[in-house]
Amino acid sequence: MKTKTHIISVSNQKGGVGKTTTAINLGTSLAAIGKEVLLIDLDPQGNASTGLGISVEERRYTTYEVILGAKKIEEITKNTKVPNLKIAPSNTNLSSADIDLTGDRKRVLKLKEALKESYTNNFDYILIDCPPALNILTVNAFAASSSVLVPLQAEFLPWRVYRN
Ligand SMILES: Nc1ncnc2c1ncn2[C@@H]1O[C@H](COP(=O)(O)OP(=O)(O)O)[C@@H](O)[C@H]1O
Ligand SMILES: [Mg+2]
Repeated sequence: MKTKTHIISVSNQKGGVGKTTTAINLGTSLAAIGKEVLLIDLDPQGNASTGLGISVEERRYTTYEVILGAKKIEEITKNTKVPNLKIAPSNTNLSSADIDLTGDRKRVLKLKEALKESYTNNFDYILIDCPPALNILTVNAFAASSSVLVPLQAEFLPWRVYRN
């Protein structure tokens, strides 16, 4: 059993800023130095799952079932080709979680509850790859994690003041 599991959300409301790339590469780097790592794919696009070689057919049960409380995280977690790096995959089913959880008073704590399982103590690091949004999935990730990593690229914003 690990003394402390670090849970880190990788998040930015904007898409294409390197969230998934950071999650995969950071996860692989930590695994390479001997840490036990779980990457949770919380983006319905499932790019982290695809990037780590999990085919669509292998994603019968995903983080969608975990968020809804229908499956435990250990039941959906897959090994990757990277030793010490596991993934909880996602697919497009996850895009309906926002609506499915509408009436649930504990809807922002679903992932936090799911990670209370003793199984998660096996990991040194849990990285959560968030969707490009500030929605219920992202709030679930923030509520479950102790820190947030925000990849971004500073870009020039062209603007103009219009006068009558
Ligand atoms: N540090 C980087 N430098 C250059 N390109 C990058 C970097 N990180 C990611 N990319 C590229 O940017 C694109 C979007 O990255 P991705 O990780 O999918 O972003 P997000 O998960 O935020 O949508 C991909 O084509 C990826 O290869
Ligand atoms: Mg992504």
